[in-house]
Amino acid sequence: MISVHLIAAARPNFMKVAPLFHELKRADWCNPVIVHTGQHYDANMSDSFFEELKLPEPDIHLGIGSGSHAEQTAGVMTAYEKIILNEKPDWVIVVGDVNSTMAVTLSAKKLLIPVAHLEAGLRSGDRTMPEEINRLVTDALADVLWTPSPDADENLKKEGVSDSKISNVGNIMIDSYELLRDQIESNNAPEKFGLSPKKYGVVTLHRPSNVDNQKTLAQLTDYLCHVSQETPLLFSLHPRTRKNLETFGLFEKLNGAVGMQITPPLSYIQFMGLVKDSRFLITDSGGVQEETSYLGIPCVTLRDTTERPITVSMGTNRLADPDQLLSCIAEISQGDWTTGQCHPQWDGKTAQRVASDLYQRVNAA
Ligand code: UD1
Ligand code: UDP
Repeated sequence: MISVHLIAAARPNFMKVAPLFHELKRADWCNPVIVHTGQHYDANMSDSFFEELKLPEPDIHLGIGSGSHAEQTAGVMTAYEKIILNEKPDWVIVVGDVNSTMAVTLSAKKLLIPVAHLEAGLRSGDRTMPEEINRLVTDALADVLWTPSPDADENLKKEGVSDSKISNVGNIMIDSYELLRDQIESNNAPEKFGLSPKKYGVVTLHRPSNVDNQKTLAQLTDYLCHVSQETPLLFSLHPRTRKNLETFGLFEKLNGAVGMQITPPLSYIQFMGLVKDSRFLITDSGGVQEETSYLGIPCVTLRDTTERPITVSMGTNRLADPDQLLSCIAEISQGDWTTGQCHPQWDGKTAQRVASDLYQRVNAA
């Protein structure tokens, strides 16, 4: 029986960790241990996901919280190093691209613990994004790279990663959706928010490039207020975005706009219940670009680049400047948007493929 640490840190990690935890828990060769770094800590950014995705309380909680990049990274590294020395895990699995992903990888590799990265190989090519730095460092150090799509394999090969380290396993986010599909479909989320199916849009924004700069956030606020006059919008507000809207004096304007409904961060079942019946998404989230492609919902991503190009080439996603938002929404409303298709390995069986790959690697070692 090997001991495997599964690292959970921030909102987008929980729906990647949950299906794999359940799969590994069923196996007789492995003991999965959940380590929460505490990067996200509000109940609606963390606890609700543990409850809905049926994750047990974390076995280990590092309680790191918020801080600058260096503070957060160093905090996780220092705290997790102590855990490794005490617990001596056989393997560490990190997911996604948040600061904790990179920090844990650094600590583990310095102490010679093998690391596997789930959702490896994604690249935006934009090193001004903190996540791109996290992806590059994590993938350079990890022993096993589990990729969601062929473009990710190609990125890794171009960086000189040997084929033997890469396994294409598909997209674990889709496993979480399938795990909770019945509850998402029976939740009647639009009705709970007074919305009619296919007659509203959902908004999520939290990238520093969109929400940390006053001028950019003011411009986005104007455009969103414009869109909501025509099509009601539900804006699930990330804590970073709320803080900045308040600091820049924009919150009241947005909140008071005709057709605009602002909510705190929503639970996964509520959020996906709203996404699946929406007319469109306006977002800068990584995960939402994939979920909308999977569900065939038009998605306007307010970014210059994406680390998930397959959602543009195959799915329903389009990158746009704020200036293009109104014309994109007009196209969607006229039914003039690609319906897209899904990558065959986004099938809800990624956790099985990951567990089987890990089993083979453990036995081959
Ligand atoms: C982090 C990730 C980002 C990911 C996002 C998902 C990094 C560098 N960024 O960004 O890749 O897309 O999570 O949501 O790892 N805060 C709260 N409560 C919380 C958590 C955060 O109020 O539970 C506030 C704090 O003011 C904090 C700010 O949000 O300073 C930002 O949190 P942080 O985790 O540093 O970055 P995110 O913007 O959430
Ligand atoms: N999400 C949620 N409630 C919300 C907003 C998002 O459950 O109010 C989920 C959604 O499934 C999304 C995931 O959280 O794919 C990832 O969130 P986020 O956008 O914070 O991170 P990113 O994917 O950009 O790193």
